[in-house]
Order: sequence, then structure tokens, then C-alpha cells
Amino acid sequence: MQKRYSPGPEKPVKKLMGVEMLKNDSESMEIQLLRSQIAALEQLLDVYERSVLEITDKLYKEITERKKAEEEIKRQLAEKETLLKEVHHRIKNNIASIGGILSLHVQSIANPEAIAVLQDAIGRVDSMQILYDKLLLSEDYKDISVKNYVESLTDTVSALFSDSAKVTIDKRIADFQLDPKRLFPLGIIINELLTNKMKYAFINRDAGLIKISLKNVKNHITLTIQDNGNGLPDGFDINESKGFGLKLVKMLSRQLGGSFSIKKHAGTRSTIEFNI
Ligand SMILES: Nc1ncnc2c1ncn2[C@@H]1O[C@H](COP(=O)(O)OP(=O)(O)O)[C@@H](O)[C@H]1O
Ligand SMILES: [Mg+2]
Repeated sequence: MQKRYSPGPEKPVKKLMGVEMLKNDSESMEIQLLRSQIAALEQLLDVYERSVLEITDKLYKEITERKKAEEEIKRQLAEKETLLKEVHHRIKNNIASIGGILSLHVQSIANPEAIAVLQDAIGRVDSMQILYDKLLLSEDYKDISVKNYVESLTDTVSALFSDSAKVTIDKRIADFQLDPKRLFPLGIIINELLTNKMKYAFINRDAGLIKISLKNVKNHITLTIQDNGNGLPDGFDINESKGFGLKLVKMLSRQLGGSFSIKKHAGTRSTIEFNI
């Protein structure tokens, strides 16, 4: 008799178990996969956290160092400013001393020519002194108001002359800032030209007018000083002249990178032009 096939008692269980086991296996694999993914993520997070902490720490240190460096720079800057102020004060005092010595010298000599030369020198020193006064009042010892300086200079120079009351000065000065490097030569130039006018333009005249105009058109500076006086001597040639003043003006105009011209024109007109 053929043996009928009958599954062993344990087989379906096995199968059943097999199926169950298969299900269990796939579930646990998914869980395992998730677990390992979570673990990897946790590791990653850990790494991130550490690097964030490291970066924060570095940044903190860097900021602290920068702050320290900034404070050091500020301290040094304040020190330099004090030093600069001190140096400027000394220069100002030295200029004042030079002026004082020249003034004393003038009183001790009798030769009119020597007196005139010394007085010219005193005028030049004075114009520097005024600039220094303005410089020390400026915020950064760098830029000075041209209008403020030129107006003070003009008043000081004209007041030096005993017959200044008969001369009217018409000032039209543009309001802009300029550095001392340019204002020094400009101040001396104005001093020379104005001094000449006060000295020579109105000899034998009861009244006179001086017009000072300083314009700034797109950083092109034009200084014109015009008087309605006697005019330059006939055939006057600056290169042949014995005087030093106009030669100095020519030199300083060149130093400013500009030009200088002087001519007889309803009196005398001087023009200086330069770019800034
Ligand atoms: N505005 C002016 N009016 C008349 N003459 C002038 C004027 N400016 C200059 N001069 C003449 O030009 C000469 C040269 O001037 P300058 O070079 O300043 O020398 P200084 O003033 O020492 O004589 C003066 O001596 C004067 O004769
Ligand atoms: Mg002169």
C-alpha cells in the first residue's frame, strides 16, 4: 500500500513558524535599519554639535582677540593724537618765537631798507601763525576752512598798515576745506600780494579798493586779487625786479602745481590758478 503523504506534525508549524519568522525577520530588519540610521544620525548630530561648539569657541576667542586689538589701536590712536597736538603746539610756539625775535630785531635797527625786509619777513611768519591757530582749532588737524583762514589773514595783514583805514577790502571767498600743505603756500601768496597792494597801490591816493576773490569750480581754484591803484611801474618785469615777494609768489604757485600772472589792469590784477 502506497504510503499516503501526510505532512509531519511539525511541518505546518515550521511552515507557520517559517512564515511568522519571515515576518518577524523583516520587521526586525526594518527596525534594525531604522536603529542603525538613528544611531548614524545621532553620531552625525554629535559630530555637528562638537564642531558647532568648536566653531563657537573659536569665534569667541577671535572676537575677544579682535576686541583687544581694536582697543589697543584706539589707545595708540589717542596717544598719537595727543602727541600730534603737542607737536603742533610746539611748532606754533616756535613760530611765535621767531615772530617775536624778528619784531625785537626791527626795533633795534635804523636802516629803513633792513626794516622793510624784516617787516616783510614778520608778515610771512604772521600768516603761518594764523594758519597754525586755525589748525589747532580744527577737529583733526587736517582740513581747515579756506574762507575762515583767508578772511582772518586778510584782516591781520591789512591792519598792519597805518593807513589801512583808507583801503576797503571786498572779500569773496568760497567756503571749502583745504589741507595745511596747500594752505601754507596759499597763505604766503595772499600775504605777499596784499602787502604789496597796501604798500604800493595807493601811494598819493586818499582811498583804495582791493577785491579778493577765491573760487572753487570743480576743484579748480582761482584766486584773483585786484586793486584800483597806481598799477605796476611801466615796463615792470618780475624776472628783472629786485624784489623778493613776487618771485616767492611765482615759486609757491609752481609748488601748488599752478600758474601765476600779474598785470596792469585798472590798477593791478594778480591771478593764481591751481587744481586740488
Ligand atoms: N599792487 C601793486 N601796485 C603797484 N606796484 C606794485 C604792486 N605790486 C607790486 N608792485 C611793484 O612790484 C615790485 C616788486 O614787488 P615784490 O616782488 O613784492 O618786492 P618788494 O615788495 O620787496 O618791492 C614792487 O617794488 C612794486 O614796485
Ligand atoms: Mg612785496
